[in-house]
Formats: sequence, structure tokens, C-alpha cells
Amino acid sequence: TASIDNLFKNHGKTFLGVATDEKYLTVQQNAAIAGQDFGAVTPENSMKWAAIEPSRGVFNFTGADYLVNWAVTNGKSIRGHNFVWGEYLPNWVLNITDAQTLIDVLQNHITQVLNRYQGLLYAFDVINEPLNQDGSLKSTHWTQVIGPDVFRIALEAARAADPSVKLYINDYTLDWNNTKVAGMVNLVNSLNPPGQPPLVDGIGSQAHLNAGEAPSVHGGLVALSEAGVDIAITELDIPGAEPSEYQTVVQACISVRPCVSLSVWGIRDPDSYRPTTNPLLFDESWQAKPAYNSIAGVLNSP
Ligand code: G3I
Repeated sequence: TASIDNLFKNHGKTFLGVATDEKYLTVQQNAAIAGQDFGAVTPENSMKWAAIEPSRGVFNFTGADYLVNWAVTNGKSIRGHNFVWGEYLPNWVLNITDAQTLIDVLQNHITQVLNRYQGLLYAFDVINEPLNQDGSLKSTHWTQVIGPDVFRIALEAARAADPSVKLYINDYTLDWNNTKVAGMVNLVNSLNPPGQPPLVDGIGSQAHLNAGEAPSVHGGLVALSEAGVDIAITELDIPGAEPSEYQTVVQACISVRPCVSLSVWGIRDPDSYRPTTNPLLFDESWQAKPAYNSIAGVLNSP
């Protein structure tokens, strides 16, 4: 039978992907599922700052290399994740309080990562979780030291390092039409002024949902479409979900044209970052759950 990735592509979408990393892909059952059922991978942790550059100028690409090599060998797209985030920062970065020094460090980090994987990445979450729920900019080490210009600086560095990568801003609770969605549209518009080459190619909606929220996702995607860039659902999981909730989210992406891709945040329930809530598509025995079958069902209908 066709995989949910193949079925999703039949609806004109780019891929249906999954977050994973070396410690999961080295388990044969996980590699088999990632290979058969999904069309893209996101490194769940291996491309985050503290994993990649634990000391200044000392790069550790071991985990990221494994993920990228696996994806290339198996013909999967790759969503890189992430560069500018207030979390997962090593102390040496947090200790930099001089703006120009931090800009130099940021530009070097982005350039090193994108040069290493030149031409291999489909997209990158250059900016992760920049907004408060009211739509204002979150205060992080980046904005405190560099200011809001950090977003433009990071996007320009990424564009220069590999122009083939789609550059995303990724955030959570964009799951209904709300003030944070409006803030995201404003942020993208401010970075993509009319008459200039756009810096932002896409908005990632993480979609770490709560049970019962799936019906509102469509309205969130429609409102995000106002920014005029691609949209990706990037980290979908639904604790305690009815199988139909997964179906509803997939249907929302299919019916909103700018929504190009959808990724779930892990393969097996026990490996989820919220492992007690069974939020994913495969159970502890690597069996496809009713949620998986509900997605296949909706994708099989014209
Ligand atoms: O690798 C170490 C291990 O050596 C150590 O023994 C263990 C002890 O705590 O920690 C391990 O690192 C953990 C890492 O996951 C790898 O498993 C970190 O503590 C833990 O904080 C980290 O959690 C990740 C979290 O982001 C923080 O970066 C989750 O796996 C990951 O699913 C989660 O993903 C985020 C997205 O990046 C952004 N959106 C929200 C999403 C969920 O929080």
C-alpha cells in the first residue's frame, strides 16, 4: 500500500515528514518506518546550537552528519532546525554581551552549518519561537544583546551561505486565528518589504496541539496565508488524540494552498518528548495506530 507521504504528494504537497535523530535511526524498526512512511526528516536535536557548536569555533557535526547521510542515502528531504532560538544555547553563547561579537558568532555558525550541507537541505528553521502569545517579540539572549535586527542578520547570513535553502520562521500556538498569528504575519511582512527579494520563504506552525484543537487549525493556516509565503506544519503531535483529529489537521493542510508540507514530531509514542500522552502515529511496538490509518483514509479520498 502507498505510504502517507506518497498519498500526501498525490495532493500536490511537498512531503509528509518526521523528526528523528541518530539514536532513533540506529534502531532498525525506526529506520524502516522513516524509510517507508515518511518523505522528509527534521533533526529533533542534532542541529541545535549546543549540539553543533558546544564551544566557540569547535563544531561537532556527528549527529547531524548521521541524519543528513541517512536522508541522502534514502532519498528524503531535510528540514534543518534551528539557528536563532532562546533555548539550547551553551553558556559560552549566553556569556557574550557585546552585540558585534554575538553577530560575528551567529554569522559564523550559520555559515559553517549551511556550507557543510550545501545543496542538501530543503528548508531551515532559521528563527525558532520568536513571538509571545500576544504577538510581540519575545525577549531572548539574541534580542537582548543584538536587538530585533538579529532576525534579518540571521536570514541574510543563511541566504548568502546557501541560496537553495527555504528560510523559515517557526513557532507554536499558531493553531487558531489569534494574536500570535497576526504577530507572525507582521514579522514576515517586516522582513519581506515590497520591492526587495524576500528573506523569509515560509512560516512553520509547530502544531503541538492539545486534544480537541484540531478543528481550529484550518483557520490558523488561512490567517497565516496573509503573509504570502509558504506554510509548513512542522512538529505535529496530539496528546490523547482521537484518530480523526490527525485526519482533520492533514485535511486542513490539503485545503489551504500555501501549506506545502507536514511533519510529525517523532516516530513512536514512547520516543515523543511528551511520551506519556501517546501523541504520535506509531505505538511502542512500531505498529501503525488508528491515527495513521485515518490519515491514509482521508488522503485516499479525492
Ligand atoms: O542528550 C542528553 C543526554 O546525554 C542526557 O543524559 C539527558 C539528561 O537530561 O539529556 C539529553 O538531552 C536532552 C535532549 O532532548 C536529547 O534527548 C535534553 O535534556 C532535552 O532538553 C532535549 O529535549 C528536546 C527539547 O526540544 C529541548 O531542545 C526534545 O527532545 C525535543 O523534542 C524538543 O523539541 C522542541 C523543538 O526543538 C522546538 N519546538 C518545541 C519542541 C518541543 O519542546
